[in-house]
Amino acid sequence: MKSVTDAPRVAITGGGIIGLSCAFALAQAGARVSLFERGEFGGAASGAAAGMLAPNAEAVQDGAEAAVAEFCRHSLTLWPDFAARIEKLSGESLPLSWSGSLIVTDTAEEAADMAEAARAGGGKAEALDREGLLARQAGLGEEAGHGVWLPEEGHVDPRAAVSALVAALRAMDVEIVENASVRGVETRRGALRALRVEHDGATRSVACDAAVIASGIEPALAGSCPALRLLYPVKGQMLALDGAGVALSRVVRGGAYLIPRADGEIWVGASSEHGAADMKLQDSVIRRLRRAAERLMPALADAAELRRWAGLRPGTRDSLPLIGADGPEGVFLAAGHYRNGVLAAPATAEAITAMILEGETPELAAPFAPARTSALTRV
Ligand code: GLY
Repeated sequence: MKSVTDAPRVAITGGGIIGLSCAFALAQAGARVSLFERGEFGGAASGAAAGMLAPNAEAVQDGAEAAVAEFCRHSLTLWPDFAARIEKLSGESLPLSWSGSLIVTDTAEEAADMAEAARAGGGKAEALDREGLLARQAGLGEEAGHGVWLPEEGHVDPRAAVSALVAALRAMDVEIVENASVRGVETRRGALRALRVEHDGATRSVACDAAVIASGIEPALAGSCPALRLLYPVKGQMLALDGAGVALSRVVRGGAYLIPRADGEIWVGASSEHGAADMKLQDSVIRRLRRAAERLMPALADAAELRRWAGLRPGTRDSLPLIGADGPEGVFLAAGHYRNGVLAAPATAEAITAMILEGETPELAAPFAPARTSALTRV
């Protein structure tokens, strides 16, 4: 019988939704996991997250690559069991809302094209006229004349997901360290030996058999893992409105997206500022989001603003995430999920677990092998 000391030791950098999910799946599969986060759990990318579980909407409205859409559709099917396992271990509730996505389009033709594209990708979709839109969501603005209904989609609160994942990891005795900076990897004969981690003013070597880099743009590791140079930030500014008196029952997407949260907030997102690496909030951007939200749901004109915030999505130069081996043997990337970190978390965790523990790459994750980027990162 294998003892716990035979279990592979995996060090993970990054306590955003991707790093936390990889830690969860690996620990559940029997690995001894240590997780290091340079700031607080949730990270810059999860901070920008809205938690939409919407692979078809992202594909037909925001132009996600076909391979990303397929991977995300698979991840959508994993979410219910993934959430149930996290809930069981954490004792925290992680409700998934399956109320669908409603996209408001400018024309009937656009709605028909989007519905057809979503169906071609294997999803359910229906093009709607104004009457159909209002039957799904009362109170839409006058301009909402056409749209698409994607009934299989939903959303999860990213705050609840991060909190429950952290609690589940603690329940599994995973070593988790906040305010810890990764300083580099140590190798022996070209293979990973340890991660060098600085915490509380001291640097230590964390011996490991495998490392997962899920901390996004990580300058200290760019020399060891060339594909990390492909990452760049896409800033997203968002706001939360007091949804009291506004009966929003599902995600509505148009010039902005609106998400009803269980606590009564309505989240409005999000800007997409390519290359901006700061977290500054701009009145002009928030005003534009708010105007777009009010066009979708005029009742929001009276809603008080509760909060505004920004996050940095990890984009890649070829619009595909980085999932797989890069650099010294034993080092894996789980990064660059751009707009789809929350949605793709279970499938990414599944793929990374298979790669590390079984030496196998699931077919749907193959297009995201960091090796594809060698031509793009050569300087
Ligand atoms: N997933 C939505 C966004 O990144 O804005």
